[in-house]
Amino acid sequence: MIRRKLQEIVSKAAGRTADILMPPDAKLGDYSTNIAFVLAKEQGKKPAEVAEQIKSQIEPGLADTCDIKALSNGYLNFFLKPGFLQNQLSEISKDDRYGQSDEGKGKTIIVEYSSPNIAKPMHIGHLRSTIIGDALANIYEALGYKTIRWNYIGDWGTQFGKVLAGYKKWGPSAGSGQALEDVTMADMLDWYVRAGKDLPEEEGQKEFKKLEEGDAENKELWKKFRDVSLREIKTTYQILEIHDFDVYKGESDYDPQLGSLIEELERAGKIKESEGALIFDLDKYNLPLGLLRKSDRATLYLTRDLASMKDRLKEYNPDTLMYVVANQQALHFEQLFAIAHDLKINTAYLVHVKFGMVLGEDGKKLATREGKVVPLQDVIEKITALAGTVVKQKNPELDERQVHDISHVVGIGALKYNDLKQHPYSDIAFDWKAMLDLSGNSGPYLQYTYSRLVSILKKSEILNTKSETNPENLKLLTEPTERALMKQLLDFPDAIAKCAEFYTLNALALYLYDLSATANQFYELVHVLDDDNAARKVARLTLISTVARTLKQGLNLLGIQTLERI
Ligand code: ARG
Repeated sequence: MIRRKLQEIVSKAAGRTADILMPPDAKLGDYSTNIAFVLAKEQGKKPAEVAEQIKSQIEPGLADTCDIKALSNGYLNFFLKPGFLQNQLSEISKDDRYGQSDEGKGKTIIVEYSSPNIAKPMHIGHLRSTIIGDALANIYEALGYKTIRWNYIGDWGTQFGKVLAGYKKWGPSAGSGQALEDVTMADMLDWYVRAGKDLPEEEGQKEFKKLEEGDAENKELWKKFRDVSLREIKTTYQILEIHDFDVYKGESDYDPQLGSLIEELERAGKIKESEGALIFDLDKYNLPLGLLRKSDRATLYLTRDLASMKDRLKEYNPDTLMYVVANQQALHFEQLFAIAHDLKINTAYLVHVKFGMVLGEDGKKLATREGKVVPLQDVIEKITALAGTVVKQKNPELDERQVHDISHVVGIGALKYNDLKQHPYSDIAFDWKAMLDLSGNSGPYLQYTYSRLVSILKKSEILNTKSETNPENLKLLTEPTERALMKQLLDFPDAIAKCAEFYTLNALALYLYDLSATANQFYELVHVLDDDNAARKVARLTLISTVARTLKQGLNLLGIQTLERI
């Protein structure tokens, strides 16, 4: 907040956008800018002179905020005034919406994420999409955007032919002894894999064709498989504690429209036939051609995505249409976006938020011992079990139920934070121990910091610091660690805004980590509860409760829950 304000004021005085930097050394101030140096160089003037000139221009407006020093090398250093920090703390402590804003008011964003496939258990790639997408949607919501959370279920395509063929060969109707009601996603995967191995390719194709043509039996079965899958998927969402989706609209929803979509494109002369297939030439975009219909007339992933995009634009008229999908599909989205551009339908800003793979402790792509993708369920079980050990060690007196509940929140927090603290493009490693390290850059460390702060508040028996504090008290906050905490609180809105701007969560994750580190330092250095200066005690508790609330709100934006006790 303050950084942005400084940037505005300095930029106005300098006549161009100035960077506001964080000096490496506190002696050089809280913020600095080299804009005077840059201008001086261009205009052949002395840096010190230009710096002085800008300083005298902005000083009156910042009289209550900071002291400004102009250096001979052209740097301007800003030193926040204690009174300013204390007043800000007073404001923030009363503002339950701190960090939120109206910057997105009147704007709509569709965030598509998770988008698992039915009949196949969710895997680790879907985990990343789910975690990142959920948190991004939280951020946009906090900034006042109308946010539509869209789950584009993969529920159509030739692979269902194989599931159906396998089902008919080995499933309940073939005497497997199992009731159709009890079929699970694991069974479906099993039929799919077996059909791929033991049945001729045509079997699957035949079954899918029947499904596409509306065959009653296959349609019924497909519906059943879809229902069962969605139920399992939703259970996983509950475990992951993500926000509910606004829209579940998947690939099958667009199948009926594809005929007319293709006709429309043909009429517009946008697609041509090539060896029986229909293609969209993307040469002028330097991209390989987009395949919209295969020679056997089967439509494709790309075609369905195009239909879905048109639907999303028409239904919600969004300002931004965002897809949170793995790196591997980058080309697909480039093609999709190029086609949308070519057809002039992209009325929204289109974004593909890509992310890398999950690597195991050996630095290779995370896989089962047999080299297969790791089911999400296994990952969740492993991290919560490991979290259980950590929680038990810390609190031997807890009963099983308590350990279970706490380790769930801690485990899921560890999983999410490990993902979000890194830049999404990069591959992320699963270092299980580091993910749960209570003293490292981990989710549990942040959760633990929060619960420590809350326990001080509880012990103080001053439940409502808001009503007991006043700005006068806050003048007693003069320790360097208190100053550091007050200053860090000011950066919370900036961290959130950065996430929205760059479609990443790491700015907020790292902000919360820094805030926690400072809060822990404060906790070690300053005695809060046994302070005999009652007014200062209240002031410190105000600081603590404001930091705790900020931590909680920040973690919640990342989709991470907090506990009063860990
Ligand atoms: N269901 C796909 C998969 O699991 C992801 C869908 C991505 N979204 C999209 N609009 N194509 O790989």
